[in-house]
Amino acid sequence: MNPYVVIGAGQAGMQVCDSLRKSGYDGELILLGEEDSLPYQRPPLSKKFLTGDLDRDRLLFRPAAYFDKIAVDVRLRTQVESIDRAARQIVLGDGSTLAYTKLALTTGTRVRPLNCPGHELDNIYYVRTLTDSEMLLQRLASTERVAVIGGGFIGLEVAAVARELEKQATVIEAQERLMARAVSPVVSDFYAKLHRSRGVDVRCSSAVESIVESKQGLLVNLADGARIESDIVVAGIGVLPNSELAENCGLACNSGIVVDEYAQTSDPHIVAAGDCTMHFNGFLQREIRLESVQNAVDQAKVAAATLCGQPQAYRQVPWFWSDQYDVKLQMAGIGMPFDQYAVRGDLASQAFSVFYFRDNTFVGADSINRPAEHMACRKLLTQGTTLSVAQAQDIDFDLKQLAKAG
Ligand code: APR
Repeated sequence: MNPYVVIGAGQAGMQVCDSLRKSGYDGELILLGEEDSLPYQRPPLSKKFLTGDLDRDRLLFRPAAYFDKIAVDVRLRTQVESIDRAARQIVLGDGSTLAYTKLALTTGTRVRPLNCPGHELDNIYYVRTLTDSEMLLQRLASTERVAVIGGGFIGLEVAAVARELEKQATVIEAQERLMARAVSPVVSDFYAKLHRSRGVDVRCSSAVESIVESKQGLLVNLADGARIESDIVVAGIGVLPNSELAENCGLACNSGIVVDEYAQTSDPHIVAAGDCTMHFNGFLQREIRLESVQNAVDQAKVAAATLCGQPQAYRQVPWFWSDQYDVKLQMAGIGMPFDQYAVRGDLASQAFSVFYFRDNTFVGADSINRPAEHMACRKLLTQGTTLSVAQAQDIDFDLKQLAKAG
């Protein structure tokens, strides 16, 4: 029998391998990755790794010995050129071929590049891969001023790091509020105030016209005529799914590799998991592409179960987190769009949760420095426990107890 092959050595790829072994698959297993590192955690790349508080080695999920132990043949620096589904083989960058019995696509995402004039200049950085983050870490040492383009998760985490390292920081966000894709206006406003209080120059509704080099460093020209002088630019303007391999071999794709709730693609021999998938989420009862550790891990487990012929439907409450300064945002469910919301706690104390409701149903919550509330919300959402707006905003109402009661 030919091997099971996993393309993409990130969190989802690592999890597919791990889960395959745990489920009893004992055949040949190959994990292909284009980067030169064993699978590593990405979230710290815009947080503790960038402040210098976490070493490169501590980013690795597992040391090389682990992959030997569970007999996973990890091939790094390996580019996959194409997939020949009829022959059930893949073609690698060096022209060689690799036959497979089953294939898992865990190809993730890549950064959306800037496309304004000047985008190709030196001193423009992104944060997606370990190499990206290592380059930025090194450059930060000799940097005074950081201009961040994009006020989403990456941009704001980088701005927080810059301030922690006592650099000047400006955030340029195209939308009228921060993290608009993922959080409500009340949370966006809280973060705008937080960053301003820590000295960040936050500019929303700002379009970048061009970036030019000058004697002072880089000049970021905004559409409103403002010019931001900076030593470096860090862009965090979203990510794009790596779905070209799938598209080019005729798999169904729609802003991501389309999979069903069993992580099955339109080819019965191929599954896909993680950031790259447009998937049917049993909890949300709709198709969505999720960029998160939670989705990478949980969907990869589903994909491995499918490969082992023990299908189990994907039905998990999405969750996510972001660390900015000493403020931890934890998100449960998908709160957006909502038609009602309730604030529990006090914004000024930097410890509160915002609960979201759609058609009188609790659909998600963002917790700021409230880890116990976040966990209770995940449980309530998983169980489908009824929660009213009045209960949510009543600080004396025991959410944990409600979650326990089921
Ligand atoms: N100029 C300014 N802002 C822009 C521009 C632009 N040309 N284009 C996009 N933006 C803004 C968006 O409005 C959005 O607020 O950039 C922000 C991007 O935020 P996210 O979509 O959250 O993407 P990013 O911060 O890059 O994070 C990518 O990494 O943290 C992980 O998985 C997480 O999904 C997240 C991913």
